[in-house]
Amino acid sequence: LLAEINYILANEQACLDMGGRLAKVCPMPCVILLQGQLGMGKTTLTRGFLRELGIKTAIKSPTFTLVEAYHLAHCEIFHFDLYRIESVEELEHIGWRDYFGKHSICLIEWPERAQGAIAKADLICGLSLHSDGRLLKLYAKSDKGKAILQELSNK
Ligand SMILES: Nc1ncnc2c1ncn2[C@@H]1O[C@H](COP(=O)(O)OP(=O)(O)O)[C@@H](O)[C@H]1O
Ligand SMILES: [Mg+2]
Repeated sequence: LLAEINYILANEQACLDMGGRLAKVCPMPCVILLQGQLGMGKTTLTRGFLRELGIKTAIKSPTFTLVEAYHLAHCEIFHFDLYRIESVEELEHIGWRDYFGKHSICLIEWPERAQGAIAKADLICGLSLHSDGRLLKLYAKSDKGKAILQELSNK
């Protein structure tokens, strides 16, 4: 099984499309970490993911609220942006553990700020600059993550 795949995302639309492709093969529950500096496309990728699943409302980084919830018929999606947290205690205050249930998909921007509070990730999406676009590196961190990469590479 694959443990890593790289994609070149030439523009914003390619990033949105990639988010959609990921959503189509994402099982539940699932924890996806989004890494990369400010402006690398973490929120854009998430937006593509959520749009694919039929979310029509505005999707922006929950920089001040830490988490935004999107409710679907059989699944809840939680989009975190941990950029502003000062300590892991802030995660306790929002009931951090309760978000990682059987029916949830968690997409987490700035996971490195959680200092080990993220129990188990399935997939890491690392975004960096690549000429005018972005390089997306997907790393599987669990068997589920490997299955996601396999599905992506089959399509
Ligand atoms: N693959 C890409 N190529 C070029 N620009 C992109 C790409 N993906 C996203 N962008 C642009 O980068 C900017 C920042 O994106 P955003 O998703 O808010 O980044 P982040 O959440 O990582 O801070 C947006 O203006 C978006 O249009
Ligand atoms: Mg963002």
